[in-house]
This record gives sequence, structure tokens and C-alpha cells, in this order.
Amino acid sequence: MIHCLVCNNTVEPFISFGRMPIANGFLGSEQFAQEYFFELRVGHCLVCHMVQLLDQPDREKMFHANYAFFSSTSTRMAEHFARFAAQVKRDYLGSADPFVVEIGSNDGIMLRNFAQAGIRHLGIEPSANVAQVAIGRGIQTISEFFDQELARKIVSKYGQADVFLGANVMCHIPYLHSVIAGINILLKPEGVLIFEDPYLGDILEKTSYDQIYDEHAFYFSLSSLEYVFKQHGLEVVDVIPQNVHGGSMRYVIAKRGKYPIADAVIALREKENQLGLHKPETYVNLRQNIERSRAELMTLLRQMKQSGKRVVGYAATSKSTTVINYCGITPDLVEFISDTTPIKQGKYSPGAHIPVCSYDKFSARYPDYALLFGWNHAEEIMAKERAFQAAGGKWIVYVPRVQVIE
Ligand code: SAH
Ligand code: TMP
Ligand code: ZN
Repeated sequence: MIHCLVCNNTVEPFISFGRMPIANGFLGSEQFAQEYFFELRVGHCLVCHMVQLLDQPDREKMFHANYAFFSSTSTRMAEHFARFAAQVKRDYLGSADPFVVEIGSNDGIMLRNFAQAGIRHLGIEPSANVAQVAIGRGIQTISEFFDQELARKIVSKYGQADVFLGANVMCHIPYLHSVIAGINILLKPEGVLIFEDPYLGDILEKTSYDQIYDEHAFYFSLSSLEYVFKQHGLEVVDVIPQNVHGGSMRYVIAKRGKYPIADAVIALREKENQLGLHKPETYVNLRQNIERSRAELMTLLRQMKQSGKRVVGYAATSKSTTVINYCGITPDLVEFISDTTPIKQGKYSPGAHIPVCSYDKFSARYPDYALLFGWNHAEEIMAKERAFQAAGGKWIVYVPRVQVIE
């Protein structure tokens, strides 16, 4: 029996993706023999309804001084976080000398907006290499894992915060209770926690199963989050859907009774009920959709190979690790993956060992098809790659369904 990380009741497994490597574990050929694998399994808690991984690698295996994900590689995300920061400044930083804390601050994509405005801030980023980039940009950052203990140290050194931020990080942390207890310690009585993560409702609607990988311990919904925050005397006061990362939700959380509950919260509760997020059959249905998606994608890739077409992967995203290894995509089906991140180039993709090459290799000789592993950045990428399509190149996407885009 597997115990829920949130409420300790039984978690019902609904899919196993099989043996999976570290999603951001791009590696050299000399490291193949030591590559680490674990079983990527997901379940749904029958009591608090939190969807979660059943096994997760140790955090030091995922977040370290060679972390491969640099947030600022996407200009669209940089714009997104500039808007996010502007809204925070407008709505929540009215006090004299306000203080903003962000966990998972990475290379400073969000906090740079506060630093530039001279606002007191602190980033908490355990992956030392990306933290160093932020520090180099003049953003105050400590390279540690956030939890309750660290929160106490921060309060004694810097005082309490007006706003606590997290983007694509709350769902990464299996010890969620310690994180929330820490946030409670760190926030002023009127302070707010604002965070966003991929939204479970979007994963279900789009069969975007590639959101499921080692780093994502949780797949949040409003109802599962309301369950956990209530235990800490906190409540969700607003929810704002975001169209980044294939469909995210931004949650605003405050100490109980401090802020009115927005109508959007009531409406989303109702929507989640209708979507059946609390029902086991919803997850059986998701598993069937995932299996269908895999079959369709592999049929398409095999057809391409038989007809002698060149297929290249576009963007070596962390999400692609699940798709590649679960579907069984091998270097004979996808020649290489083009990615703009220097630390990934010249290495191999985790598990399947497809070469990762610089963008120049893609643009120097366009393939017949580009398999868009960065589908969450489709708008930005397709706008940039008009010449590829003009030259007869076609896109293969698999979210929300497997299709070829001409
Ligand atoms: N906020 C950025 C980065 C998201 S990636 C963005 O949205 O683009 C997740 C980040 O969280 C990684 O940089 C990782 O090192 C960091 N992280 C993981 N566990 C953490 C913890 N316990 N406390 C703070 N940051 C953590
Ligand atoms: P993400 O989906 O986890 O944010 O990862 C994005 C990856 O995609 C990152 O490795 C950089 C890569 N990328 C490109 O190679 N070209 C692009 O135009 C964009 C937007 C991203
Ligand atoms: Zn539970």
C-alpha cells in the first residue's frame, strides 16, 4: 500500500511509465553505464485527491551544480514573469520597504524585475549553477533547499515577507507540509503566497502526460490544494489560469480570513467537480488516452522512417524524457534533438541516448519533420521557424493530439 504525501491515506496507482531516467539528466557517452533509473508511477489519493508520483529520486540527483534547465532560455517566459512581477508590485507591495521571497528562483527570470526596481528580495535556489547566474545579475540568492528550518533562519536574518513566490517549483517538492509550514512562518500576517504550476485539469483535457516526470512530485488541482492549505490555517483566495507551459494555474493563498475569496475560486471548484477530478475513473480514462497517444505517435514515426523521411527533435525539454522513454523513441527514428541550451549540447538525451545538438545543426540542413518536444513553446518557436515551413518542413506535435502541422 502506498501512502499519500499529503494525508497519509491510500494512493491508487493509475499508470506506470516504466523505467525512467532523470528528466534533466543529459549525459556524455562515458556516463551511460552509470545512468540512474527509477520507476515512474503516478497515483491518485482516494481521500485528498492529490495526484502524485509514487517513487521519486533523491532531490540531490535532480537539483545540483550541473542543473540543465535555465529559465531564461525562453523569451516568452521572461515576458510572462515581467508581467507577473508587475502585478505583484501593483497589488501586494504597498508597505514601506517591502520584502519578496521566491523559491526555485533559478537564473533570476522573475526576481530580476524586483531587483531592477530596488525592491528587497531573496531567491532560494538549490541548483548552484543556475543560482550563480542570478547572483551575477545582481539578484540576492541563497543556494539551498527551502523547508521549514530554512524559513526560520531567513526570518531571523531578514524579517518576514510581504509576498512569497514560486513558479514551477511547489509541485517539485514532496515534503510539501514542511514547505507550507515554512511559508507560514515567513509570511507577515497580511502576506500572500502566489505560485503557479502546471494544472491537472489541463493535463487531463490535453493528455499532456509529458508533464509527468521525476521533478514533478505533484499534479495540483484547486481541490487537492485547498485540502492541504486548510491544515495549515491558510486558504486559496484567488485562481488565475495561465497559458504558459501548456496550461498552468496561478494560486493566491493567504492566512484564513484576511482576504475575500474571489468568485473565480468558487467557479473553479465547480468546474473541477464536473471534470470529475475526485473520481478514480477519470484517471483510468487518462491512462487510456495516454496509451492511445503513444500508439499513434509511434505509428507515425515508423511510417516516416519507412518512407525515408528525416525526423529531428526540436527542444530537449525535460518533458521529452517521459515521451521518448515511454514511447520507445530511439535514435533511428529521431536523428538528433536541437536545443539552444549550451549545457545540453554535445550530450545525449536521458535513457534513449539521442544526440542533443546545437540549433545550427537544425538550421543548416532542415529535416523533413521536426518533432516538437517543446510544444509548450509552440507559438514562440513556430513564429521563429517560418523559414523551416517555407522550405517544406512540417511539425509533428502530440499534445493535445498526435498530428502533423504543415
Ligand atoms: N521558477 C523557474 C524555475 C523552475 S524549475 C521557472 O519557472 O522557470 C524548478 C526550480 O526549483 C529548479 O531551479 C530547482 O533547483 C528549484 N528547487 C527544487 N527544489 C527546491 C526547494 N526545495 N527549494 C527551492 N527551490 C527548489
Ligand atoms: P521547458 O519546456 O522545460 O521550458 O524547456 C525548454 C527547452 O527548450 C530548453 O532546453 C530550451 C529549449 N528551447 C529551444 O531549443 N529553442 C527555443 O526556441 C525555445 C523556446 C526553447
Ligand atoms: Zn491524500
